[in-house]
Amino acid sequence: MANQYFKFKYGVPPVPERLYHLLLYDVGKLEESDWQRDKTIYSTYRVQEELQTWVQSYFDFPVIVNYQVIEEQVHIHRDVDRMLCWNYLIKTGGPKVTTRWWNDDETEIVQSVEFRPHCWYELNVKQKHDVVGVEGHRIAITVWQDPVV
Ligand SMILES: [Fe+2]
Repeated sequence: MANQYFKFKYGVPPVPERLYHLLLYDVGKLEESDWQRDKTIYSTYRVQEELQTWVQSYFDFPVIVNYQVIEEQVHIHRDVDRMLCWNYLIKTGGPKVTTRWWNDDETEIVQSVEFRPHCWYELNVKQKHDVVGVEGHRIAITVWQDPVV
């Protein structure tokens, strides 16, 4: 499965449900993150201290931990200010949600995958990518190195 766009992130276990269960009851009450992302693409929110600490304990460099919520198709983009991230899906947002990577001129899909929930993946987010097939809230924990690389 390894390729230049995504791979399993080994060494980080599934996130204990007690660390995010409140989120599932009321996504709307989450506090917005101050990450300088493109807000037209998706929403990012702060996580609780306990979840931040738990995730950090599995990385040997400082990481930023946010929730990411997507409610509809995400058009082709490169992430703002990060090359690499690690994502953990809590809710997939539908049975056939597909992440696709595109070549630079957006004429060809070079890789696609339906990520499984409750697994850690490493993603190349500098390559152009989009997300299709989203029907409901797609909720992930997204992690990246601080300072950004
Ligand atoms: Fe992205």
